[in-house]
Amino acid sequence: MPLLHHVLLGFLLILLYLRTPTSSTATDTVSPGRALVGSDRLVSNNSKFALGFFKPGNESYTNHNSYLGIWFNKVPKLTPLWTANGNNPVVDPTSPELAISSDGNLAILDHATKSIIWSTHANITTKDTIAILLNNGNLVLRSSSNSSIIFWQSFDYLTDTLFPGAKIGWDKVTGLNRRLVSRKNSIDQAPGIYSLELGLNGDGHLLWNSTIAYWSSGQWNSRYFGLTPEMTGTLMPNFTFVHNDQEVWWNNETAIMHAGIDVFGRGLVATWLEESQEWLIYYRQPEVHCDVYAICGPFTICDDNKDPFCNCMKGFYVRSPKDWELDDRTGGCIRNTPLSCGSRTDRTGLTDKFYPVQSIRLPHTAENANVATSADECSQACLSNCSCTAYSYGKGGCSVWHDELYNVKQLSDSSSDGNGGVLYIRLAARELQSLEMKKSGKITGVAIGASTDFGMAKILGREFSRAMTTMRGTIGYLAPEWISGTVVTSKVDVYSYGMVLFEIISGRRNSSHENFRDGDYSFFFPMQAARKLLDGDVGSLVDASLEGGVNLVEVERACKIACWCIQDNEFDRPTMGEVVQSLEGLLELDMPPLPRLLNAITGGSHPVTPQYFDSL
Ligand SMILES: *[C@@H]1O[C@H](CO)[C@@H](O)[C@H](O)[C@H]1NC(C)=O
Ligand SMILES: *[C@@H]1O[C@H](CO)[C@@H](O)[C@H](O)[C@H]1NC(C)=O
Ligand SMILES: *[C@@H]1O[C@H](CO)[C@@H](O)[C@H](O)[C@H]1NC(C)=O
Ligand SMILES: *[C@@H]1O[C@H](CO)[C@@H](O)[C@H](O)[C@H]1NC(C)=O
Ligand SMILES: *[C@@H]1O[C@H](CO)[C@@H](O)[C@H](O)[C@H]1NC(C)=O
Ligand SMILES: *[C@@H]1O[C@H](CO)[C@@H](O)[C@H](O)[C@H]1NC(C)=O
Ligand SMILES: *[C@@H]1O[C@H](CO)[C@@H](O)[C@H](O)[C@H]1NC(C)=O
Ligand SMILES: *[C@@H]1O[C@H](CO)[C@@H](O)[C@H](O)[C@H]1NC(C)=O
Ligand SMILES: *[C@@H]1O[C@H](CO)[C@@H](O)[C@H](O)[C@H]1NC(C)=O
Repeated sequence: MPLLHHVLLGFLLILLYLRTPTSSTATDTVSPGRALVGSDRLVSNNSKFALGFFKPGNESYTNHNSYLGIWFNKVPKLTPLWTANGNNPVVDPTSPELAISSDGNLAILDHATKSIIWSTHANITTKDTIAILLNNGNLVLRSSSNSSIIFWQSFDYLTDTLFPGAKIGWDKVTGLNRRLVSRKNSIDQAPGIYSLELGLNGDGHLLWNSTIAYWSSGQWNSRYFGLTPEMTGTLMPNFTFVHNDQEVWWNNETAIMHAGIDVFGRGLVATWLEESQEWLIYYRQPEVHCDVYAICGPFTICDDNKDPFCNCMKGFYVRSPKDWELDDRTGGCIRNTPLSCGSRTDRTGLTDKFYPVQSIRLPHTAENANVATSADECSQACLSNCSCTAYSYGKGGCSVWHDELYNVKQLSDSSSDGNGGVLYIRLAARELQSLEMKKSGKITGVAIGASTDFGMAKILGREFSRAMTTMRGTIGYLAPEWISGTVVTSKVDVYSYGMVLFEIISGRRNSSHENFRDGDYSFFFPMQAARKLLDGDVGSLVDASLEGGVNLVEVERACKIACWCIQDNEFDRPTMGEVVQSLEGLLELDMPPLPRLLNAITGGSHPVTPQYFDSL
C-alpha cells in the first residue's frame, strides 16, 4: 500500500524554501507619484498580505531572477500566492520598479534597459489610476477618485493559488476562464504544464497541457462535489459554487489559507500552523505523485515508494538534469542509443531487443495487435513497426505502444494484486550489450559469464555445472528439503546456486572443507556473509585477490541474491529467472532474513533438532 495512501487527513508538511525579503515601508498603494522599488513592499491595510519583488530559492538553488508577487505578510516561510511576471522575470542586478506608467497601467520597469517587462495592459479610461493591495489579497488597478471603476484586478489572473474570496471558473459574458496553473519548477515561476480548471457544469478538473484530465471533482450537488464529499464540513466550511447565466465559479469566502496546485501537478489545501511554523497540508489530490499524468515525462518509471519517484528506464538518460533537480521532471528521458528499427540491422548486426519490467501499471494508450496470438508474435509485431516502443502480452492479448511512453508506474508487490503487467521495452541491441557491460562489476561478471547473451543455457553452463557437481554432497550446499526428504523442486538448484555465488564472492572455492573442519562451522562463509550483509558491512567480505577493483554495490547485490537463494523455505527463494534479473540489476531484492537452518548449524542460538526439518 503506498505510503501516501492515507494522506487525505494525514499530516504532511510542505517545506517551501524561499527567501523572505526584509520588510520596510508599509503602504498599500502605488500611485503616479509613488512607485515601489527594490525591497519595498505594499502591505494590505489589515497587514494580512504583502506585495513586492522576491527571489525564489535559496543560496544553492537560485537563478537570481526576481518576480513581483503577493504572499502572506505574517508567514515567514515565503509562499508566493500570486506572481505577476512569471514569464518575464527581472534579471539581476537591475533594480526593478513597480509604477503607474504614462498610459495609466501598472507596470514593472527594468531600469537597465528602460523597458517595461510587464504591464496590466488594461483599457484605461481615466487619467487618475492607482493600484491598491486590498485586505483580501486582491491587487486592484482603479480610478483614484471612484473605487467602483476597476480596470484590472489580480483575482482575474490567478497563478497557482486560489485566494479566499477570489473566483475560479468561467465568466460566460467575457469568456474569461479563471484557472490555476502550476509553476514550472521550484524556482522558475513560469507557467507549468498542469492546471486546475472548472468545466461549464462546475466540475473541477486537474489537467495536463490543458487537454488531459487526470483528476475530477465530480459535479456540484448543492453541498459538495460528487466525487469528493470530503471537501465539505470542517475542511471547506464556506465553500460556494455559483452557476448562472453569467458565471460558473467556486469559492468566495472561506477559511482556507492556501489552496492551489503544486509544481508536481497536485491539488492541495493547506493551513499555516503558528506553533510549528509550517504549512499543514490536509487535502491533496491525487494522493500520490505517480497518479499525476505524465509526472515523470516520457520513458520513465514512476515509483511512489522510491525517492526520487521518477527514474529513467534502463537505456535512457535524463533530458534536462537541471529541471529534474528543481522538481520539474516532465521533460522525461531520452534514448542513449537510437533504435535500429524494423528488420534492418545496426553495425553490430543485430535488430532491436526488449527487456522486461515487472509489476507495471501499463500505460493506457495501448493499441491492440490482435493478429499476434503468442508472446513471441507480439514481440515480432512490435519489431515490425519502427514507431513501436513497447509491448505487453497478457490476458488481454497483445498490446503495443507507439512513440513516447508515458505513465509507466511501478506497482509494489502488495498493491498490484496481480493487476500489474510485464512491459517489454524496446532498446537497440547495442544498448542491451552495453547495459550488460556496465554492470560488469567483477562479481556479477564472473557470476553470469562474460558473453550465481543472457539466457539460462549460458548461466547454467559448463562452469556452473562443474562447480555444482563438486559441491553437491557437501553439507551446507544441500537444500534442507534434500535432507528432510520432502518433495524436491528446481528450487534445490537455486539453493546450490546461492552457495556457489557465495563461493565466487569469497574467492574461496576450495575452502568449504576447511570451514567444516572438526565440526566447527562458525567461519562458514555464507553465514558470515549474511550477517555482514545485515550489518551493512559487505566490504570486509570481498575476495582479497579482487583487491580494490570491486564495486561494493555489486557485491551487496550478489550477497543479497545469494542469501535469498539459501533460505530454508523453498517458497522464500527466488526463481532462477528472478536470480538472473537481479544480477542484471533489473529486479531489486529486499534485504533477506538470516537463513534459520544455517544459522542454527553454524552456532546460532537455536540448536538443530530432527523436528526442525519436519517443520519445514
Ligand atoms: C485601515 O485600517 C484602519 C484600522 O485598522 C482604519 O482606521 C482605516 O480606515 C483603514 N484604511 C482604509 C483605507 O481602509
Ligand atoms: C535549497 O533548495 C533546494 C531545492 O528546494 C533544497 O533541496 C535544498 O535543501 C535547499 N538548501 C538549503 C540550504 O536550504
Ligand atoms: C481593450 O480594448 C480593445 C478594443 O476595444 C479590446 O480589443 C481589448 O480586448 C481590450 N483589452 C482589455 C484588456 O479589455
Ligand atoms: C463611480 O463609478 C460608478 C461606475 O462607473 C458610477 O456608477 C458611480 O456613479 C461613480 N461614482 C461617483 C461618485 O462618481
Ligand atoms: C501541449 O499542447 C500543445 C498544443 O495543443 C502542443 O503543441 C504541445 O506539443 C503539447 N505539449 C506536450 C508536451 O505534448
Ligand atoms: C459570497 O457569495 C454570496 C452568495 O453568492 C454573496 O452573497 C456574498 O456577497 C459573497 N461574498 C463575497 C465576499 O464575495
Ligand atoms: C463562514 O461564514 C460565516 C457567515 O458569513 C462566518 O460567520 C464564518 O466565520 C465563516 N467561517 C469561516 C471558517 O470562515
Ligand atoms: C506503425 O504504427 C503506427 C501506429 O499504429 C501506424 O500509424 C503506422 O502506419 C505503422 N507503420 C507501419 C509501417 O505499419
Ligand atoms: C584448490 O585446491 C587444489 C588442490 O588442493 C589446488 O591445486 C588449487 O590451486 C586450489 N584452487 C584455489 C582457487 O585455491
